[in-house]
Amino acid sequence: MMLRLSVAVLLLLPFALWCAYAQSPLVGITLVKNTTAKELGAYCLDGSLPAYQFSKGFGSGASNWLLHIEGGGWCNDVKSCLERATTRIGSSSYMTENVFSGILSNNQSLNPDFYNWNRVMLRYCDGASFAGNSMYQNGNSSLYFRGQKIWQAIISDLLPQGLAHAEKALLSGCSAGGLAVFLHCDNFSRFLPGSATVKCISDAGFFLRRVNVAKSEMIRTLYHDVVSLQGVEQNLNQNCTSSQIDPKQCFFPQYFLSYIKTPIFILNTAYDTWQFYNVLVPSSADPGGVWNSCKKNLTTCTDSQIQTLQDFRLDMLNATNSFYKSSTSGGMFINSCFAHCQTQHQETWFAANSPRMQNKTIAEAVGDWYFERNETKLIDCPYPCGSTCQY
Ligand SMILES: *[C@@H]1O[C@H](CO)[C@@H](O)[C@H](O)[C@H]1NC(C)=O
Ligand SMILES: *[C@@H]1O[C@H](CO)[C@@H](O)[C@H](O)[C@H]1NC(C)=O
Ligand SMILES: *[C@@H]1O[C@H](CO)[C@@H](O)[C@H](O)[C@H]1NC(C)=O
Ligand SMILES: *[C@@H]1O[C@H](CO)[C@@H](O)[C@H](O)[C@H]1NC(C)=O
Ligand SMILES: *[C@@H]1O[C@H](CO)[C@@H](O)[C@H](O)[C@H]1NC(C)=O
Ligand SMILES: *[C@@H]1O[C@H](CO)[C@@H](O)[C@H](O)[C@H]1NC(C)=O
Ligand SMILES: *[C@@H]1O[C@H](CO)[C@@H](O)[C@H](O)[C@H]1NC(C)=O
Ligand SMILES: *[C@@H]1O[C@H](CO)[C@@H](O)[C@H](O)[C@H]1NC(C)=O
Ligand SMILES: *[C@@H]1O[C@H](CO)[C@@H](O)[C@H](O)[C@H]1NC(C)=O
Repeated sequence: MMLRLSVAVLLLLPFALWCAYAQSPLVGITLVKNTTAKELGAYCLDGSLPAYQFSKGFGSGASNWLLHIEGGGWCNDVKSCLERATTRIGSSSYMTENVFSGILSNNQSLNPDFYNWNRVMLRYCDGASFAGNSMYQNGNSSLYFRGQKIWQAIISDLLPQGLAHAEKALLSGCSAGGLAVFLHCDNFSRFLPGSATVKCISDAGFFLRRVNVAKSEMIRTLYHDVVSLQGVEQNLNQNCTSSQIDPKQCFFPQYFLSYIKTPIFILNTAYDTWQFYNVLVPSSADPGGVWNSCKKNLTTCTDSQIQTLQDFRLDMLNATNSFYKSSTSGGMFINSCFAHCQTQHQETWFAANSPRMQNKTIAEAVGDWYFERNETKLIDCPYPCGSTCQY
């Protein structure tokens, strides 16, 4: 059995790899220039150079730029940041090349509007959504909390490669990278020519300040710790920090969304699975494990668990309601699937069985909004009505 399995793997693996290569080439890692990093003090947690992946635009997309910010949670204390510093989300020494798919794909039939743009993935290695600026030093162990500088360093590296003369630009990002989009959207547009069309899309980045099922505000504590440890507060939206009693909570998009001037698109499921598992029902808030089955298989949730999920959805809609009602340049796609990050996976971005609203895939909704083919603010009815979701 073992032998037959490994023979099959040996025979099939090269074929599978060949398929992947033939359809979408691997995109290698580019380190930020040492001089740029040094000038800004921009380093990954472990002191290595920050990095990005770049696939050059072509044809009618040659002057357009899509920057996509990688996600990967946060680190909120020295211990978790030291651990992270030995992984690909804390050090460029561990980053590897990978395939660009979904919104980053170079194939027109998989990514109709952005396939031929210059496409860049900003690799995440700071642990504070590209927004910190401080340092930890104790004996031989040190940590660079330089996310804000990494953001600036990657942009500085890209400007002379054509970004400075972009005609169209879109800042995108998912999860912690989607939060970084909210944080940096206006700063991004200021780097680009006044004549350029500049917009932003945050995918699964609308992290809600919310109590969990044990009535504790764990996410608020987590964000508070990230902001304090990594020196983030100085880089938060100043209109927000000057108006909040607790300026640190301006790390939550709900408190500074109204101050963002650049057109922005909010893509989020109303039941974002990361928030479901980590904000609403972290295992520490459910020591008896009464949610375990519901988390694995929605059809086993009790009525009261479904109600808890519906309440979460209502809070999400409430927090985005004034944007929904009053932003004229903004877009929205709040679907009722259980998912997290829908731009960078082909199946959710643009495929025959992708999630849809008004029969539009996410790729079509985002394209319609970006190119102003149609106003796009779509909110689905509550679970289980999302008939195009893959539960
Ligand atoms: C683009 O994607 C389509 C659909 O998956 C595929 O049939 C085609 O071979 C791809 N084209 C290229 C150039 O990879
Ligand atoms: C940058 O270059 C200097 C030498 O010019 C070298 O000492 C240093 O290690 C480099 N830094 C990184 C992070 O590679
Ligand atoms: C720090 O590093 C030096 C040299 O590698 C070593 O001799 C020393 O014991 C280390 N100190 C601590 C506290 O680990
Ligand atoms: C972007 O933000 C950084 C600091 O947060 C600032 O130094 C820089 O000037 C800003 N860039 C532009 C073009 O506004
Ligand atoms: C943000 O603050 C600046 C400077 O204080 C002010 O000019 C601007 O009008 C404020 N923006 C909003 C949306 O309140
Ligand atoms: C989910 O639970 C239902 C009801 O118990 C069951 O019929 C179904 O097979 C389960 N689905 C999966 C994927 O396990
Ligand atoms: C709804 O949103 C408003 C404004 O964002 C906020 O003041 C209010 O507390 C929210 N209501 C609930 C029930 O969360
Ligand atoms: C939905 O869109 C697909 C193509 O994207 C089209 O084939 C189909 O006819 C549309 N369905 C409806 C009901 O409009
Ligand atoms: C714009 O959207 C509306 C409602 O979603 C739809 O009825 C209309 O056909 C769309 N127009 C275009 C040009 O796509």
